[in-house]
Amino acid sequence: METNDVEEEVIDLAPMEAIFENLPDDSRSHLIPTLQKIQNIYRFLPAPCLEQVMEFLNISRAEIYGVISFYPQLLITEPGKHIIKLCYGTACFVKGASIINDKIHDRYHIRPGETDDSKLFTLQTASCLGNCGAAPMALIGDDTHGNIDPEKTLDILGEYKLDNAEAPETEEATA
Ligand code: FES
Repeated sequence: METNDVEEEVIDLAPMEAIFENLPDDSRSHLIPTLQKIQNIYRFLPAPCLEQVMEFLNISRAEIYGVISFYPQLLITEPGKHIIKLCYGTACFVKGASIINDKIHDRYHIRPGETDDSKLFTLQTASCLGNCGAAPMALIGDDTHGNIDPEKTLDILGEYKLDNAEAPETEEATA
């Protein structure tokens, strides 16, 4: 029996009910907070969830994808395990953020918005992260890294890679 080589992951849409339940009457104006809530749950915006949002809020495909494309932090594909937010605010830019960006590209072949082949890192740029005194800055997940330079950044990323390699495989239990 032939099956598709690529099995689509089944998305549990149950959490969507709670999101829609709490929407106020003028819910169209709550599109962005709704998308953020979805992303907080799923780590990105799965297509089946977006279909439900379009139907529930009576929003066209063009409109919703237009909004998503305007906000780089909204992701339509599943990000890597670690999201790198490289600060591109003025202080960080002046101190070499773009050179760090190039270095990350050289090593991991990703540009902002992309995920590396091993699905370990997704690179994003961010506006000022609020600690210009430690420029250039990056967030990796919830971890703050200041006074970075290209080599130091690769060292830091290497540690995440190492941690990932050492972490035991776990199966996520789903209720
Ligand atoms: S400009 Fe990067 S932390 Fe402010």
